[in-house]
Amino acid sequence: MREESAEEQSRMSTPEEPGVTHVWLPFRDTSLYVAMPDGTSRTRALLAGALSQGDVTQDTRYGEPLWRVDAGDLHAVVEALWSTGRPVRIHLDQAPPSARPADPPRMTPVPRREAAFDGTLVVLSRQDVADGVVSMELGTRSGEPMPSWQPGAHIDVVLPTGVTRQYSLCGPLDRAGNTARWRIAVLREPDGRGGSQWIHDHVQEGGELRVRGPRNNFPLRPATRYLFVGGGIGITPLLPMLAEAEAAGAEWSLLYGGRTRASMAFVPELEGYGERVTVRPQDRYGLLDLAGFLGGPAPSTLVYCCGPAGLIDAVEAHCATWPAGALNVERFAAAAGQQSAGTEEEQPIEVELRASGMTLTVPPELSVLNAVGQAGIPVLSSCEEGICGSCETAVLEGEVDHRDSLLTEDERAANDTMLICVSRARGGRLVLDL
Ligand code: FES
Repeated sequence: MREESAEEQSRMSTPEEPGVTHVWLPFRDTSLYVAMPDGTSRTRALLAGALSQGDVTQDTRYGEPLWRVDAGDLHAVVEALWSTGRPVRIHLDQAPPSARPADPPRMTPVPRREAAFDGTLVVLSRQDVADGVVSMELGTRSGEPMPSWQPGAHIDVVLPTGVTRQYSLCGPLDRAGNTARWRIAVLREPDGRGGSQWIHDHVQEGGELRVRGPRNNFPLRPATRYLFVGGGIGITPLLPMLAEAEAAGAEWSLLYGGRTRASMAFVPELEGYGERVTVRPQDRYGLLDLAGFLGGPAPSTLVYCCGPAGLIDAVEAHCATWPAGALNVERFAAAAGQQSAGTEEEQPIEVELRASGMTLTVPPELSVLNAVGQAGIPVLSSCEEGICGSCETAVLEGEVDHRDSLLTEDERAANDTMLICVSRARGGRLVLDL
């Protein structure tokens, strides 16, 4: 009898789900870049935490996409897999069935976007790096290696006050994404929800922080040229991107703005890059000259921007005519005009949780996330503002009323996923894969 190849073992249909291809992957948290025929690219499929065990996914919208995957041995599997154009059920960190007893069908939902790490870390160092900005290095007491991460990743810091805040990882890492320490920088925000103030006032060197992650909603995609725009504490996710672009031999430059030079973190570190970096404190130079820095659309050029909402809005306006996917932003707060769930004008919606066999009526004052949680279905969440992606949930039926600040226009139009902490339903009904 002919033995199955490793690739054949890793993708097969099962009698319980005719037409669904199953794939068993021995790893998780792999960045996946999909190059589109129009020269743009998109990410999501195998990003850290984007797929959980038991997920079903399908992408037939782009014909015959060319897949590029960081892990070499995954390349062939995924290329073959998606070219089938059929639904795919992902089994992470598992061997194919020929190497183990058959999987029972999934009967209960699993938490989505599992974090690579969920535990307590020690503050190995704490340093003031600008007015109102403190930098901290986190690690294990025993010095064990930390989970790998890629530029753009963030972690959740879960405070004893019940507040969870996201902070970008901004320290150095090697080419494999490894580092013995995770560095974050925290801006004291007097008008915030209290998380940053608590960290500033209570977390000292030698103290502990509860941390989840890392996850990456802001990955650096391959390009020959990058334009980075950072505002204030928005420099943090860009720092490892600069190192990555430099190491890859890409052409890049950074425009970094802030209120005053003293308020801008990591300037001495950035000065090591020489003329690639332009530091423009507002009290000396006024508003950033985005038009002069960004210019017009250019081939193979990607723009990455992180900072205050006003800066991101201005960069988005400037890049409105650039090719789809050329601009990549990360927001710290919901975009202006994005509604949160629970306003008085809302109507109740009906949400069927197909995998759980439940149908919920979600009243106006409740988010879908809260309703699902009250029904006893575990869904990971963090920001509850539609910016972190923790609660992303697959949509099986119904039209989504997207109110997040994370998904791209293409992703919204696809109507196959939603951030249930803020988004609701057009038409009053949704069926979710929960
Ligand atoms: S919890 Fe952050 S996007 Fe929903």
